[in-house]
Amino acid sequence: MSETLKILSFESSCDDTSVAILEREICGKLIVRSLSLQSQNEVHEKWGGVVPELASRAHLKNLLPCLEKALSESHIDLKSIDVFAATSQPGLIGSLLVGHTAARTLALLFDKKFLSVNHLDGHVYSIFLEREMRFPFLSLVVSGGHTCLYIVRDFLNYEALGLSLDDAAGEALDKAAKLLGLGFPGGAQLEELARGADSNFYTFGRVQTPQLHFSFSGLKSEFARLVKREGDKVQRENAAASFQLAVFSHIENKLRKAIQSTGVKRLSLVGGVARNQLLRQRLQRLCEEGLLEDFSSPSPVFCTDNAAMIGLVAMYRHLEGAENEIEADVRASFRPSREKIRREKKA
Ligand code: KG4
Ligand code: ZN
Repeated sequence: MSETLKILSFESSCDDTSVAILEREICGKLIVRSLSLQSQNEVHEKWGGVVPELASRAHLKNLLPCLEKALSESHIDLKSIDVFAATSQPGLIGSLLVGHTAARTLALLFDKKFLSVNHLDGHVYSIFLEREMRFPFLSLVVSGGHTCLYIVRDFLNYEALGLSLDDAAGEALDKAAKLLGLGFPGGAQLEELARGADSNFYTFGRVQTPQLHFSFSGLKSEFARLVKREGDKVQRENAAASFQLAVFSHIENKLRKAIQSTGVKRLSLVGGVARNQLLRQRLQRLCEEGLLEDFSSPSPVFCTDNAAMIGLVAMYRHLEGAENEIEADVRASFRPSREKIRREKKA
């Protein structure tokens, strides 16, 4: 084994192909040597959502250029990699298989360790790519596929406090964007359209969910009814701003409850929707109110799906003594049912 630890990781769980090379120096300092990323937005845009079959094919096309870019940018060659890693779950099976198979093949070829990584672990610990965070802290993962609030007690030790009972927040924002004729995924375009508009122009019902769970499907349907009812008269900018406010208020309300019930005053906001400036500003205000003592969100590139966060978790797992997982398989996404979440909360 070389003096430093070098990890090459793949992320291909949905519609972003990404390869990263991370190096852990002897002193323990972690450096992202390179990160290459290829989005598939133009492939899926005309369908208004991710088409699994097209996503797998696009991963196959993008994977080698991404790998070559990551290698050339880092000036590290494949022979010196100690651990190969890839996202194994949750995600689209055909997409997961591309990065997973590539990493396992390289591990076999170079006789090195392969480790599989849970995509959500990647998001939760992505904050550590740029800074340290004191345990315990709350982690709010807000993306196109997930809206989860966790309490993070240590490395690879965290527990769900609240999950979405239906759609993810990003999914709802993307649907609203689509109804307003914006591209896919529309979260960022919706934010742009809403800038400077009146967020109190349209009002939405207050979302009622048990405990610290989230729900966005009701808001999504309300928005669809609004657009249908208003037709050409709909004030697009104000509709975008009002919808964002409704989604983010729901998130903020649950977060306030979580801070009060756990007494944990540190928060990390991660996932694609964490790129949203309005959401960041609203949560920043919790610091000014004294409710939070530490609030942080990774740089935009580490918020959305990326292989660096996968490499980081692989590094923790390797340092904890994880054995080679060359036989590991991929697993599709699953959404726990309402009953299951309730039972888990009671247990
Ligand atoms: O984490 P991510 O890249 O992929 C998933 O794991 O889902 O998140 C993608 C989501 C999409 O719903 C996208 O619209 C949303 O993140 N997103 C945003 C912004 N940038 C990306 N939502 C709101 N505002 C943004 N600026
Ligand atoms: Zn993600």
